[in-house]
Amino acid sequence: MRVAHSADEIRRQLQSLRKSQSIAFVPTMGCLHDGHLSLIRKAKALADIVVVSIYVNPLQFGANEDLDKYPRTFEADAKLCAEAGVDFIFHPSTLYGKNGPAITLQAAASLCDCLCGASRPGHFDGVVTVVNILFNIVQPDIAVFGEKDWQQLTVIRRMVSDLHMPVEVVAAETIREKDGLAMSSRNRYLTADDRTAAIAISQALRSMQRLAASGESDIDTLKQEALTILANAGITPEYLDIRHPASLKNRRKLNSLRPARAFIAARVGTARLIDNMPLELTQ
Ligand code: PAF
Repeated sequence: MRVAHSADEIRRQLQSLRKSQSIAFVPTMGCLHDGHLSLIRKAKALADIVVVSIYVNPLQFGANEDLDKYPRTFEADAKLCAEAGVDFIFHPSTLYGKNGPAITLQAAASLCDCLCGASRPGHFDGVVTVVNILFNIVQPDIAVFGEKDWQQLTVIRRMVSDLHMPVEVVAAETIREKDGLAMSSRNRYLTADDRTAAIAISQALRSMQRLAASGESDIDTLKQEALTILANAGITPEYLDIRHPASLKNRRKLNSLRPARAFIAARVGTARLIDNMPLELTQ
């Protein structure tokens, strides 16, 4: 495994390889866990060479968010990457000047003024800007993103299709702890009590899945059930929403012909956790 610290270095390293081998890319902010490892496994299964970037992107953090506190664990990350068979780590110290790039991308409000975007203005603009920079540097054939960050996955899919970027976006399923909690770098902020309470997030999503599968199509009924599960764990969600998985438009009623996905974000202790699951009305 090789580690590149600048755009020029990774470009040089990949230059001749890309002529005969396919490249899969897993962009990360480090602090790798089993969720990332599953993205890496997917990347390995789909291409000859796997590149992982580790870069905590200041552009996607708001003024009062956890940029300074965000865990930076490069040694441990590199070890995990080596064990997982990653070929290249791209670990730049910065990707743009101190004031940020002069040219940035902007994601459409229709995709960003809801869910996480509503409370994190500018977040997805920061994500698409840096992912575009990373794509231009690495020039992968395939890029793998986790379904846990569904809104991010959706925005990136739209960026790639609207801007005709020559990369295939592949989604990887959310990896969960045994009790259902979605794996996240932010889970390490949870105290033991928070950790117990946090299980309610996936339980609330599963309860909506079960109700939908049993034929309940009324969104308010689904949400009420989920809110009760969260309230019993002492959690007031930042949002609990049911939306179309691609347009992210609000769904008012479940309809077996049109897909829907349920989304929750909640602060548990000092950690802001997110999760989502598909809903299928089967009756
Ligand atoms: O999902 C993440 O870790 C980040 O948002 C990403 C895609 C690496 C961009 O900084």
